[in-house]
Amino acid sequence: MTDNLKTAFDANRRLWDERVAIHRRDETGFYRVESFLAGKDVLYPIEASEIGDVRGLRIAHLQCHFGMDSICLARRGANVTGLDFSPPAVAEARKLAQQTGTHVRFVEGDVHDARDLLEGEFDMVYSTWGTIVWLPDVAAWARVVASLLKPGGSLYFADCHPMMLCMNMVDGRITLRTDWRTPRGRPMVETGETTYTGDQGADLPSYEWIHPIADMLNAFVGAGLRLDWIREHTRLTWPYFPNMLRDADDMYRLPEDHLQLPLALSLRATLRR
Ligand SMILES: C[S@@+](CC[C@H](N)C(=O)[O-])C[C@H]1O[C@@H](n2cnc3c(N)ncnc32)[C@H](O)[C@@H]1O
Repeated sequence: MTDNLKTAFDANRRLWDERVAIHRRDETGFYRVESFLAGKDVLYPIEASEIGDVRGLRIAHLQCHFGMDSICLARRGANVTGLDFSPPAVAEARKLAQQTGTHVRFVEGDVHDARDLLEGEFDMVYSTWGTIVWLPDVAAWARVVASLLKPGGSLYFADCHPMMLCMNMVDGRITLRTDWRTPRGRPMVETGETTYTGDQGADLPSYEWIHPIADMLNAFVGAGLRLDWIREHTRLTWPYFPNMLRDADDMYRLPEDHLQLPLALSLRATLRR
């Protein structure tokens, strides 16, 4: 790893370490922690309707944050291992698993080292809502995913749409803000007083990369994964643009009378037998 990438990963880890307690406190209600503790399944309708029956599946949940989605997958009957590079995230995830009486293994480590850190092969790799934007090389990530899967096993991926990430809102208009692809060695550096949940705090720099869909698909081909399907969605799990409205499913969309653009994408890709 180059010095620049190490600086970026170290900064991102500091940011995520800070965000764990903020998100766990959940003052804005974004993470729906109270309902989750009361037993609610907090997977969003996109993934809930697309993952199918996970009972009995071995699932590797990469970049699991403080583990709520991992626990929801386990509550659905899967045998789940969550991985994240943030020590406070893993500690909080283990606490939540204990508190909810759910069996999930949580492993601390960089996603790039997942093959060495996780035992065995998996039926599914699960990666959702804010993952590859933290990684400089989507082809390297796809190779890690493939290395974790058993032949015939699948990646389930859902995240924000790369086209949306190129834009922001200026004077009430959605406008291009950056190139459509972020070079590996020149991440976007962002700062903000609030996190995507609206909570105050963790005003630290983040280093992020936009990966176009073509790069993702070529990464899958290169790693021996076959695309089963890909979908684009006009709603997202957080209010990326300030005029987005929250719907009954706790997702956010642009007003109906606004021109629509894809805000999220989801896909399944399967390791060839
Ligand atoms: C937006 S969160 C993941 C989304 C998750 N679905 C959620 O909302 O709970 C991003 C996670 O990626 C983790 N992360 C970022 N870069 C990583 C890396 N290189 N290796 C492992 N975890 C990483 C962060 O610690 C953070 O927990």
